Amino acid sequence: MRFFVDTADVDAIRELNALGMADGVTTNPSLILKSGRDILEVTREICSIVSGPVSAEVVALQADEMIAEGRKLAKIADNIAVKVPLTWDGLKACKVLSDEGHMVNVTLCFSANQALLAAKAGATFISPFIGRLDDINLDGMELIADIRTIYDNYGFDTQILAASIRSVNHMSQAALIGADVATAPPGVIKAMANHPLTDKGLDGFLKDWAKTGQKIL
Ligand code: E4P
Repeated sequence: MRFFVDTADVDAIRELNALGMADGVTTNPSLILKSGRDILEVTREICSIVSGPVSAEVVALQADEMIAEGRKLAKIADNIAVKVPLTWDGLKACKVLSDEGHMVNVTLCFSANQALLAAKAGATFISPFIGRLDDINLDGMELIADIRTIYDNYGFDTQILAASIRSVNHMSQAALIGADVATAPPGVIKAMANHPLTDKGLDGFLKDWAKTGQKIL
């Protein structure tokens, strides 16, 4: 499973990229707001850090304006994936932009039927939002599994980009189901390294090591 980093924080992206943990980046208007930076400027910088897809989201509601915004965002760098919302107009924009050769990430997906439409419209990525479904007492992970089944049934090559990830459990469950990509905040990716038995084991080894009186360096 590839990891995209769900942030517009360039320092966090640099750190994860240096470790091979940033196969791409996803941004959205809320993350751009959080960065406090200009969308074109910060997206250009992100594209210079990572070589994989960098999602930049349109904000228009009508298809023709989404297409114009998408074309402008795609000019930032070759690795831009234009992010459009899963509305009827968003699907129209997806079809035009993907036919033009741009990568398209269809976002705000909350149902298997929406994911089916996005694949038919030529989406490169579909972004089902796990956490926001869990927030309203539905099962976000069940949606990932349903989309995996549907795409495999018919050989769609749209990639499942598990999004709205809030926990390390979301990451392992998405990987078990076979999501192609998961996009997560930097803190979630780093937390995947944690385990209390690792800490406890290390503590024991270091205490015993001190008793040997030896040094490696
Ligand atoms: C992904 O592309 C989205 O920007 C993101 O995962 C949304 O996450 P949230 O529901 O935590 O805002």
